[in-house]
Amino acid sequence: MTPEMDQYCVMGNPVEHSRSPWIHARFAELTGQRLAYGKRLIALDGFAAAVQAFRAAGGKGCNITVPFKFEAAPLAATLAPRARLAQACNILCLGAEGIHADNTDGVGLVKDITRNAGVDLAGRDLLLLGAGGAAAGVLGPLLEAGPRRIVVANRTRPKAEALAARHADLAALQKTELSAHGLQGLQGNFDVIINATASSLSGGGVPVPAQVLKPGALACDMMYGPAAQGFMTWAREHGAVPRDGLGMLVEQAAEAFDIWRGVRPPSAQVLAELRALLG
Ligand code: ATR
Repeated sequence: MTPEMDQYCVMGNPVEHSRSPWIHARFAELTGQRLAYGKRLIALDGFAAAVQAFRAAGGKGCNITVPFKFEAAPLAATLAPRARLAQACNILCLGAEGIHADNTDGVGLVKDITRNAGVDLAGRDLLLLGAGGAAAGVLGPLLEAGPRRIVVANRTRPKAEALAARHADLAALQKTELSAHGLQGLQGNFDVIINATASSLSGGGVPVPAQVLKPGALACDMMYGPAAQGFMTWAREHGAVPRDGLGMLVEQAAEAFDIWRGVRPPSAQVLAELRALLG
């Protein structure tokens, strides 16, 4: 790292697997921005101290990944409305005047669906599976895309109800029908299904029957690599178009890069390169 370069990093635990340094290095190269982006393994009880130390050393911004997304808001002087609604942050801007926190996961997912996959969400029926941090991070921007209906379905139904209740005002504003459900007995079928559960990580299968898929539906998993394969195979076998979370990963990074640098990186090109790299 050259000292005069602006410093950025991703903080997480674990963080070794993170593709963010590669993505941001490529964005910087393609836009002619001079910056260095590293990854930092943070002790589970050391997130706040690590952020303050990075800022004191001149760090300009960081991405936040598991398990620290819920710890960022209290450190921030200002919090973007979408991060407040998500109750989670994936990006910090470390300005001299204070820390600003935001969440670009949801807008990254929406851009991947609408631009990269070419599926318009306006007027469509969406099923969001899960009500944990991953689902919370994307519900607001999904509503802002103007779908006709979003059903949030979760194994633990009260969590889905709480998540939907938190977004009720935004849903009313958007004139989107928003409801919460358990995983059993879902009614109707959907144009877009988004898997934000951790089911595959615990060895579980797809937690809903294939009847939820309209013919040709887009079925997105927020994970990528082996963790997304079960859901993608299920989608393909039932006439849906499968999509993994790699595009969301690149698009959320592009949003962060834009916030930090004021420059829009060529995210579709970098996504294509990353897909080729990962085989
Ligand atoms: P993340 O930050 O990845 O969202 P999380 O907050 O722990 O992680 O949320 C995990 C989500 O996956 C939850 O919606 C969880 O359902 P519960 O709220 O009922 O726990 C869901 N999940 C995990 N394992 C699952 C399984 N085997 N079947 C269905 N849903 C599962």
